[in-house]
Amino acid sequence: MMTFTSQILMLLLLLLSSIIFNKGVSTCNEKDQRTLLIFKKGIIDHFGRLSTWSSEEDCCAWKGVQCDNNTGRVTKLDLSPPYEEKQYNSLEGEINFVFLELEFLNYVDLRENEFDMIRIQPIHYNVTYASKLRYLDLSWNAYDIHIDNIHRVSELSSLKYLNLNGVDLHKETDWLQVFSMFPSLLELYLKDCNLNYISPSLKYMNITSLETLDLSLNNFNFELPKGLFNLTKDISYLDFSSSKIHGELPLSLSNLVNLTYLDLSYNQLKGSIPSWIGQLGNLQHVDFSYNMFLGSIPSTIGNLSSLVSLYIGSNFFSGVISEKTFSKLLNLKDLDLSNSTFASHFDPKWNPPFQLNRLSLANTKQISNFPSWIYTQKSLQVLDLSNVGISSKDGNKFLSFAGGISNLRLSNNSISGDISNVTLNSSYIAIDRNKFTGELPHISPKAELIDLSYNSFSGSIPRDWDNMKYLIDINLWSNRLAGEALIHLSNLKRLRVINLGKNQFSGMIPINLPQKLQVIILRDNQFEGNIPAQVFNLSSLFHLDLAHNNLSGSIPQSVYNMTPMIIGTINYIAGFRLNLFTKGEEYEFESYILRQTIDLSANNLYGEIPLELFRLIQVQTINLSHNNLSGTIPEMIKGMKNLESLDLSNNKFSGEIPQSMTFLTFLSFLNLSYNDFIGRIPVGTQLQSFDASSYNGNRELCGAPLKKCVIEEDPTRTNPSMENEDDDSLRESLYLGLGVGFAAGFWGICGLLFLVSKWRHMFLDRMTDKLYVTLMAKKNCSHKT
Ligand SMILES: *[C@@H]1O[C@H](CO)[C@@H](O)[C@H](O)[C@H]1NC(C)=O
Ligand SMILES: *[C@@H]1O[C@H](CO)[C@@H](O)[C@H](O)[C@H]1NC(C)=O
Ligand SMILES: *[C@@H]1O[C@H](CO)[C@@H](O)[C@H](O)[C@H]1NC(C)=O
Ligand SMILES: *[C@@H]1O[C@H](CO)[C@@H](O)[C@H](O)[C@H]1NC(C)=O
Ligand SMILES: *[C@@H]1O[C@H](CO)[C@@H](O)[C@H](O)[C@H]1NC(C)=O
Ligand SMILES: *[C@@H]1O[C@H](CO)[C@@H](O)[C@H](O)[C@H]1NC(C)=O
Ligand SMILES: *[C@@H]1O[C@H](CO)[C@@H](O)[C@H](O)[C@H]1NC(C)=O
Ligand SMILES: *[C@@H]1O[C@H](CO)[C@@H](O)[C@H](O)[C@H]1NC(C)=O
Ligand SMILES: *[C@@H]1O[C@H](CO)[C@@H](O)[C@H](O)[C@H]1NC(C)=O
Ligand SMILES: *[C@@H]1O[C@H](CO)[C@@H](O)[C@H](O)[C@H]1NC(C)=O
Ligand SMILES: *[C@@H]1O[C@H](CO)[C@@H](O)[C@H](O)[C@H]1NC(C)=O
Ligand SMILES: *[C@@H]1O[C@H](CO)[C@@H](O)[C@H](O)[C@H]1NC(C)=O
Repeated sequence: MMTFTSQILMLLLLLLSSIIFNKGVSTCNEKDQRTLLIFKKGIIDHFGRLSTWSSEEDCCAWKGVQCDNNTGRVTKLDLSPPYEEKQYNSLEGEINFVFLELEFLNYVDLRENEFDMIRIQPIHYNVTYASKLRYLDLSWNAYDIHIDNIHRVSELSSLKYLNLNGVDLHKETDWLQVFSMFPSLLELYLKDCNLNYISPSLKYMNITSLETLDLSLNNFNFELPKGLFNLTKDISYLDFSSSKIHGELPLSLSNLVNLTYLDLSYNQLKGSIPSWIGQLGNLQHVDFSYNMFLGSIPSTIGNLSSLVSLYIGSNFFSGVISEKTFSKLLNLKDLDLSNSTFASHFDPKWNPPFQLNRLSLANTKQISNFPSWIYTQKSLQVLDLSNVGISSKDGNKFLSFAGGISNLRLSNNSISGDISNVTLNSSYIAIDRNKFTGELPHISPKAELIDLSYNSFSGSIPRDWDNMKYLIDINLWSNRLAGEALIHLSNLKRLRVINLGKNQFSGMIPINLPQKLQVIILRDNQFEGNIPAQVFNLSSLFHLDLAHNNLSGSIPQSVYNMTPMIIGTINYIAGFRLNLFTKGEEYEFESYILRQTIDLSANNLYGEIPLELFRLIQVQTINLSHNNLSGTIPEMIKGMKNLESLDLSNNKFSGEIPQSMTFLTFLSFLNLSYNDFIGRIPVGTQLQSFDASSYNGNRELCGAPLKKCVIEEDPTRTNPSMENEDDDSLRESLYLGLGVGFAAGFWGICGLLFLVSKWRHMFLDRMTDKLYVTLMAKKNCSHKT
């Protein structure tokens, strides 16, 4: 009985092992397998992506490994994580160049993981092995990944494609020589490598085969040598954007007759655009924007009939630009002339030979009417005519045309007209700072951002606005609108910014506000009723301005759940201007200057401030002035280390000013005037730096900067009261929270950075810009996680 079963078992085992054995010999080469296992040793694989990499399995079946079917030799290694779940798939640890011992390897892709080290063995290393490697991509790994021994890489003589984007090469002073040693390189990507030096002795690049060169986002800080491209005449793609290069365009650029893509934007290039630019007849994409080029645009640019995109905005060009410049540019799709000072002389009857997708003339101050040739452009998707000085009364006619453009910006002109019968089908609509009158226009449900601020719209919010389920940001600041606005907006789940300030809107604040709201500005309206507790439970809210309304009741006693005000994270995604108030005055900030704010001033609120409010330790501005609030300032205010502006004036607050307020070192505006505070103003540099107006109107308050206290109190009696003792454990948790807050606060800054770039680039929305944004976020943020 026993022997029978064991015999069967033996048989099974034999069968199994023969299967494995057979598979093993017929495919994977043993030496390659050993090499790969050494390579694997350095990798930290949190997500089990390399679970198939074990000696029991055929290495040609390992995930990411490909072999030659006939010889079983490894030819390809592709470990870049699948896009969708990148953050849950990254490999970490080191990239061991031992993979170069795979003699038949020709393709290695390790990009977009979190590798933070490259190990190149300097002694036992034998590069002749990897003589077939033609494709190597190590881009976008951990922010601090670097190569110390780049000379060894340069021995890979078959390389045609090398991508080191995001790898720190700042120590490589002779990188130009090193990369000149690849005899057959076609594509070289060194974006964001922290390159900062070109040896003065080397005045040209010796990679004769090169076709693609990306050196953007580096830190060169020097002029490009005139003969830099003397030997690289085949280059067709050249990107030097945001790399801090100075000086004039190098003459050798005129050698690159095959150039199709040239991006020199965001540098400090000066001089004029030479007329030889017209010889580069294959150019399709030219970006000279954000430099310091002078002079006029050479007329030879009009010879570049292949041109698809031309970005020359934000320079110091002068002279005249007219339809002659564009007469041969049949293929032009994107044109950016923004922020320039040349005079534009277009024939009013001009019929351009092109149909543009994107056009920006923003900040040019050249025109007082809509350029009539724009009406011929039927495929526009982006149009920016912000701040160009249009004072047309044709608002209605123009918007009946332009309302179909998906990204439409007409901000800060003097366009007038009643557009209430127009239906705007755009996703982004910025027609703020004009003179539009009449009722609000119809807006199609696909709108995402709407800025109609600083106009004279009247009436109420149309019913059809209830359906804008994609709406993210709405700004109606400073119009003459009335009626119940908020019920129309409370079902819009994506909404992050509501700015209805400076109107005559009325009604109650609904309890079911959109959960993703980050900014609520209802200032200067006629909203009434209580502030619902749910407002303080909006977990993304960082800016709450309900000032100057007719709100009543007390400030809700509930759990305050506004994460950005507690731990400081602001991931603000919308892009339009906000109107932000601080320090008791009216300020207007660009949207990227974001502040954690609670402003409930000038309402009819009464009762005590809930202690929960003092848990919002990241708040920078609190204004509760001009209400009927009472109670004392608790000792725990000390936890609000980021507080810069505190206005409690014109209320019925009482008791002593807590000693702990002297710890609010960022406080630069304080108003406690017209309350019933008593006793001595605590001594400490902070509270004495304000003048008497911060404390006036409190009859029993004394000490600097007010007049001296008459009765010197017994110091033993100025100890903290009982109430403060009770707060001790709470306070402790506050300080613990502060540590977390600091780290998270850094992310807050990253959020801002993201926003700055986003704002700056919103119009053009180019691929490089997208990358730039991601990069900046990656660079500046990854090392704090
Ligand atoms: C190798 O075999 C696989 C699976 O049979 C097949 O998909 C692949 O095309 C083959 N490759 C070559 C180069 O023959
Ligand atoms: C490198 O490897 C090749 C092939 O195995 C061998 O012939 C050669 O001697 C090695 N060179 C060095 C320096 O180890
Ligand atoms: C360029 O490099 C090649 C070798 O790759 C060398 O033979 C040639 O002399 C170099 N040319 C110059 C001008 O440096
Ligand atoms: C580049 O070419 C120009 C014109 O042929 C020549 O005058 C110059 O000396 C060259 N510069 C270098 C560094 O080779
Ligand atoms: C430009 O491209 C053409 C066609 O692809 C090619 O024959 C030529 O060698 C390239 N380089 C130069 C400098 O013309
Ligand atoms: C290039 O432009 C200039 C000036 O506009 C003109 O004189 C010249 O004929 C043009 N060349 C070609 C090849 O079109
Ligand atoms: C306008 O262009 C100049 C010159 O490049 C630049 O310094 C400035 O920032 C630009 N302004 C805007 C609003 O883009
Ligand atoms: C917006 O779309 C509607 C319906 O498709 C259309 O009637 C209207 O003319 C469009 N408006 C503009 C300005 O394109
Ligand atoms: C709007 O235009 C006026 C006058 O041209 C200018 O002074 C102001 O700075 C502009 N405002 C914005 C926000 O661009
Ligand atoms: C809007 O359309 C209505 C009905 O067709 C018309 O009575 C009204 O005058 C129009 N308003 C404007 C400003 O064109
Ligand atoms: C606060 O919001 C969360 C969802 O974000 C919800 O589950 C919870 O019930 C809310 N609490 C109150 C008191 O409304
Ligand atoms: C404010 O609300 C109160 C009731 O809460 C009402 O009596 C008063 O008239 C309102 N004031 C204004 C200006 O609407």
